[in-house]
Amino acid sequence: MQKVFTSFQSLIKVTYFWKENYVFLREFKYFWGIAVLAIIFSFLGAIFEGAALAVINSFLQVLTSPEKTSINLGIDWLNVWIFGSKSNISDRLSRLGFLVVLLAWLRSTFAYLGPVYAKLTDASFADRMRKSMFEQLISLSLSYYSQTRSGDLVNSLNNEIATIQRGFGAASAFAIRGSTLIVYIVAMFLISWQLSIVSLGLFTMLSVMISSFVIRVREASFPVSQAGADFTSTGIELISAMRTIQTSSTQNFERTRFYSISEKVKKALFKLNKAVDLIRPLAEAISTTILICVIVTAYNIFVVSGQLQPASLLTFMFILFRMMPLVEQVNGLRVEIGSYGGSIAKIKEVLSTEDKVYLKDGDLEFTSLKNSIDFFAVDFSYDALDKPVLHDINLSIKRGQTTALVGTSGAGKTTLADLVPRLYDPTHGVVFIDGVDLKELRISSLRRKMAIVSQNTFIFNASVRYNIAYGVENVSEDLLIEAAKQANAFEFILDMPKGFDTVLGDRGVRLSGGQCQRIAIARALLRKPDILILDEATSALDSVTERLIQESLDQLSKGCTVIAIAHRLSTIVRADKVVVLEKGRIVEQGSYQELIERKGALWKYHQMQNSSVEIDS
Ligand SMILES: Nc1ncnc2c1ncn2[C@@H]1O[C@H](COP(=O)(O)OP(=O)(O)OP(=O)(O)O)[C@@H](O)[C@H]1O
Ligand SMILES: [Mg+2]
Repeated sequence: MQKVFTSFQSLIKVTYFWKENYVFLREFKYFWGIAVLAIIFSFLGAIFEGAALAVINSFLQVLTSPEKTSINLGIDWLNVWIFGSKSNISDRLSRLGFLVVLLAWLRSTFAYLGPVYAKLTDASFADRMRKSMFEQLISLSLSYYSQTRSGDLVNSLNNEIATIQRGFGAASAFAIRGSTLIVYIVAMFLISWQLSIVSLGLFTMLSVMISSFVIRVREASFPVSQAGADFTSTGIELISAMRTIQTSSTQNFERTRFYSISEKVKKALFKLNKAVDLIRPLAEAISTTILICVIVTAYNIFVVSGQLQPASLLTFMFILFRMMPLVEQVNGLRVEIGSYGGSIAKIKEVLSTEDKVYLKDGDLEFTSLKNSIDFFAVDFSYDALDKPVLHDINLSIKRGQTTALVGTSGAGKTTLADLVPRLYDPTHGVVFIDGVDLKELRISSLRRKMAIVSQNTFIFNASVRYNIAYGVENVSEDLLIEAAKQANAFEFILDMPKGFDTVLGDRGVRLSGGQCQRIAIARALLRKPDILILDEATSALDSVTERLIQESLDQLSKGCTVIAIAHRLSTIVRADKVVVLEKGRIVEQGSYQELIERKGALWKYHQMQNSSVEIDS
């Protein structure tokens, strides 16, 4: 059995349909039970509907030509007890009437359960899709984010998944209506195969006509998704850039931009809806034509010649009348499903794994740095098409020492430091940590031993406490206060309305630049790191605070391996080693004193900064 199942699975997996949609289909493994129930209930609904139709046929027959025996299932006791074949007409009518009512109630029960389970299936589907998106976003290399607009991603996460959920709902409605339709068709064939063929032929023609509309609708759905993504991006940018917009007085420019993108959304949606809305009235008109043609022909050919009983024609008509909205719905759903093409493509684009860079996790546990971090012939570029940002970096960072990176803006200092916690992998060359390739270490074990205080620390819209303790479990109040004190943040935290429980606002809008930085330092202190990366850690501070923080950083750095990036040379005079970067290359390295004496690049910076200090004062 297992074998049959696996070979069936592998058979499905080579089909075009699977390959096209596997990012969606694979999610079924999490809720297939519910999906199967939805299908069973819907199908039972359709079966009871079919059975009711058969009994209705007999019911009508008893009314119109009572002399005929109605249902004969070939089982005597069923015929006698249930259908009342031996009873008088009115008794037979009541029995059949009761049966119709019973079947109608059963049908209604399942017509309720089917959609309920279908809704549960599509809610589970959307939930799984959101979780899959999370897993994808969290495991992608950071380089993906420098090439993708966050608005696009927010749009996919929010709007496109909601759209796909509707699409999935439409697909399950399609399956439910489709299965009912099959039951109707079977019933029609049982009554008159000739009429059925004529009707089906006409309905098939209708479907073929509608197919060309489906293609048109699908095509119109792509601009809608694109416009939606552009709109979300613009909206997010507008809100985050409000300060810059106000200060540079570009409201009119932004208004034009926003209005034009909003109109693009309107136009794309209108075009799509125009295509979608054409279908229903058209299909309705055509199916009414079909219905009337079939009835008139049927009466003239089959009833007049006695091939068909009037009761059967009545049932046939009854089925056709019930079937018509169903056919319209099925066709409508086909069009609707087509209209989700754009969203499906967008989600697939985010979830596809082939065209993206992932950091492959290693399996060696990193416990602590014993000797050194060594860069060996490292090249790096953010994008394969771009020029390399780092060239031929050879560098040894010794345990317990402070290594300072110096260089002009854009020289590649931050990039170089980012390779140590493996935020990116080198394009060429290797970074070793105690002689082991960084790629072989478990990323989480490596990063747990590191702390980064960077140029732009992210402050969460949560309490001060949450922000300082972020990423560290079970922090005691004492430790928290100690870290805040060491980072020189304690006083300003106490001054805030709710102290450690003050909520800091989106991206820490309630903090000054220097305060953000001190929160970041406190966060780093709490981690008790082995390796500390300070990327302009003191850049946003006044000289008094800087001195205080420098002291606490010195305190923190004891026994720590430090990589410090600083523009102000005064902060790195005491570094054990200074590395000067220019345009992604190391041009000098040695102790501060040595390099000054050599009168090279560092000496030039030294001269420049000294003279600017003189001008300042
Ligand atoms: N995410 C990114 N995607 C693409 N290019 C990037 C990215 N980040 C930086 N760069 C490019 O890499 C180069 C080095 O940037 P990096 O941030 O390392 O400079 P830096 O030396 O830290 O400068 P600064 O002193 O201004 O912080 C720059 O030319 C920059 O344009
Ligand atoms: Mg930098």
